[in-house]
Amino acid sequence: MKVSVIGTGYVGLATTTVFADLGNEVIGADIDKGKIEGLNKGIMPIFEPGLKELVERNIKEKRLRFTHNNKEAIEHGEVIFICVGTPPKENWETELKYVENVAVEIAKNMKSYKVIVHKSTVPVETGDKVKKIIEDNAGRNVEFDVVSNPEFLREGTAVEDTLHPDRIVVGVGSEKAKEIMKKLYEPIKAPLIITDIRSAELIKHASNAFLATKISFINSVAKICELSEADVEKVAEGMGYDKRIARDFLNAGIGYGGFCFPKDSQAFIKIAEKYGYDYKLLKATNEINEEQKKNFVKKVKSTLKDVSGKKIGVLGLSFKPNTDDMRFAPSIYIIEELQKEGGKIKAYDPEAMEKAKEVLNDVEYYKDPYKVCEGADCLLILTEWNEFKELDLEKIKSLLKIPLIIDGRNIYNPEDMRKHGFSYISIGRKDVLGIRPAPTP
Ligand code: UDX
Repeated sequence: MKVSVIGTGYVGLATTTVFADLGNEVIGADIDKGKIEGLNKGIMPIFEPGLKELVERNIKEKRLRFTHNNKEAIEHGEVIFICVGTPPKENWETELKYVENVAVEIAKNMKSYKVIVHKSTVPVETGDKVKKIIEDNAGRNVEFDVVSNPEFLREGTAVEDTLHPDRIVVGVGSEKAKEIMKKLYEPIKAPLIITDIRSAELIKHASNAFLATKISFINSVAKICELSEADVEKVAEGMGYDKRIARDFLNAGIGYGGFCFPKDSQAFIKIAEKYGYDYKLLKATNEINEEQKKNFVKKVKSTLKDVSGKKIGVLGLSFKPNTDDMRFAPSIYIIEELQKEGGKIKAYDPEAMEKAKEVLNDVEYYKDPYKVCEGADCLLILTEWNEFKELDLEKIKSLLKIPLIIDGRNIYNPEDMRKHGFSYISIGRKDVLGIRPAPTP
């Protein structure tokens, strides 16, 4: 099938490459010329495991090409995916102008029947808007259908999630579009849920809101565990065996970040507001998430007593492992707050340091996690990269000025830390207290 994808961000790139790999003829389009030139040479604009190999293979086998000319892409595809950004406005409503602009472009350039699919996360009723824009701008009597096909991929596993999704949601308004979408997705073995367009749009927002709420839920439980000297990891394990609850997304920490949960949960509150509904539950989810970062800063401050002049080692900057994405990363707030108190930050992240340099000031970056520990008054864990779990703890202890780790991701076992002679403070678990830091003279 001839497929076009407009927008080559995380969702767009995963969509182009996976559909090409499944044997379709795919064009990926983006107005960013530099990005397109890079992609055609195999240079990825984002770090995403498996993506580069897949792009290169499909370009070589001539199923995939990239263009900065949207018109060319619109003419090519029978199915056109709109994967452009839907960033938040100042008031957290979803900015739809990029989707709308693409809809106008499609209308003006389509010469034959098209299935126009929005994959970006958009408010319910966007499908109706897109349809109206196309009808108003098409000018000729060209047939088309609008489809909502929300994307559920996670950063860091974008290719894997697109190839092996838990489900595929397709919201359609016509039999013809339904059959085309079914055929396109046929090679992917996953439950296919066919709905009306508005329900499909809501499935995406409702899913992200639910997951964000699950995280805030366990973070609240972590707080109660801290107050009652229980262990949130055990509580989550005990809850997780209940199939109705499930263990996933019950990891307490410093809160969710990234470009989806923070903006989508705020956007969903705004959507509800437009319909006259006060979404109290989701508001609480967001508040708890903000508190989580603040509580972590409080932990650091109360442990160090005086942050001013202290050298603070930081392992992990990206909002989660296996990505270089710094958008809404909890590390930004935490680092900036500690800097306000006079803390000196030394940091290491396996992938995100370049992007971190664009958002953080006055941080010393090191290419080696052990260098971050050298002479530091404490070590913070802000992202749970696997390589941090394998570090030589004895070596870390010998390098730190004081053997103190404050772990925002619960990557170590408190008992092991006690045996290694660390003071170890984590989330929702009893503190391991060894040698306390000396007050700053
Ligand atoms: C999310 C959704 O999972 C995905 O379906 C949607 O399409 C886009 O948004 P992503 O933003 O890539 O994907 O990250 P995800 O792996 O879901 O993690 C989001 C945030 O929640 C991260 O900051 C992560 O650290 C945090 N998190 C996740 C927790 O704090 N605890 C958990 O148990 C799980």
